[in-house]
Amino acid sequence: MTRRKWLDKFVKMAATVIAAVLGIPSLALLAIPAFRREQSLWVRVGPLSDFRPNEPRPVTLSYQRRDGWVIKTARTTVYVVVFGDGKIKVLSNICTHANCAVRWERSKEGFYCPCHDGLFAIDGSVKSGPPPRPLDEFQHKVEGGELFVKLRG
Ligand code: FES
Repeated sequence: MTRRKWLDKFVKMAATVIAAVLGIPSLALLAIPAFRREQSLWVRVGPLSDFRPNEPRPVTLSYQRRDGWVIKTARTTVYVVVFGDGKIKVLSNICTHANCAVRWERSKEGFYCPCHDGLFAIDGSVKSGPPPRPLDEFQHKVEGGELFVKLRG
């Protein structure tokens, strides 16, 4: 092998190594967000004192949600239920039958789904109609008198 050929091969190999060292981390940096799994996050609902016992109240929450490389503002509505004994439930407003929105109806003493006359009790359990299971419940916590709910990010 001549010196010129050897030098030519050496330069090509060095260029390949440098391209790999710089390129692979850059590609990984670009690709990782696409494979990132949804994370859950705590969203502030508001002061617990805003909620009266046995009077479920809907709250619409706005939060930032990551979708691959894009960060979107998402909205979701939950029902906050404070019971007479101080226990709290944060319930989804989505019916478990066919995903219609439920609303609290005092006259029915339950969460009513107008799509197929489903009715859920104040604790989210099914009272009547076709829903196959209770309303979904969100994990929550109270810190410094403020209510927070855990949502999927
Ligand atoms: S969607 Fe709610 S009862 Fe059918």
